[in-house]
Amino acid sequence: MDSKTDQEPAGKVASASPEVETPAGTPPAAKPAPPKTAVAAPAARVVAKPVGSLVESAPDPPVNKMRRRIVWSAIAASLVAYFLMFLRFFLPRSILEPSSTFRIGAPGDYALGVDTKWQQQYRIWVTRTSDRLFVIYARCTHLGCTPDWKASENKFKCPCHGSGYDSEGVNFEGPAPRPMDRAYVELDAEGQIRVDLARLYAWPKGEESKFDEKGAYIPL
Ligand code: FES
Repeated sequence: MDSKTDQEPAGKVASASPEVETPAGTPPAAKPAPPKTAVAAPAARVVAKPVGSLVESAPDPPVNKMRRRIVWSAIAASLVAYFLMFLRFFLPRSILEPSSTFRIGAPGDYALGVDTKWQQQYRIWVTRTSDRLFVIYARCTHLGCTPDWKASENKFKCPCHGSGYDSEGVNFEGPAPRPMDRAYVELDAEGQIRVDLARLYAWPKGEESKFDEKGAYIPL
């Protein structure tokens, strides 16, 4: 065997890569940096908490807090409403109705004929003749509609089924069975006409008229 195979000549570096001869006295070239390789991040460690320790939770976001407040407010409002309705059950109930008695001024405020200024407020007409003043309750005696005053025809005409009444409320056409009722009237201490719709004077069909009774008119 040749001895050259056992010993490397001086100036040669033993390496696995192909040998490169470098002249004697030159510094060795810097070794190339090893290629960077992606290093997997270490797996997160799961630490088991000891039993019985407090579990910390993240605070609720403000949107959740607001929603919770709204829900609770709605529930509280409903409970209050139900409670008030429950209390209302034990309170006496009263129906407020307009008074049947009212004043409509002095007789001198009315001219001869029919005055309709109180129709909307009290559902009455005031009729003045040469010797008396009376108040007609504006309700058709057929089925209860409110007739219209037709000044040009000097009559009341019911829009529902066509009944007609003269200026004193006496029926003369249509299905109305009798004249319209009149309300109680009197002069009070101040000379004002006081009307009471709770006291009506009628002229039932085939019966005697109540229109001449005291209280059915004011004599002039
Ligand atoms: S209600 Fe007036 S005519 Fe029928």
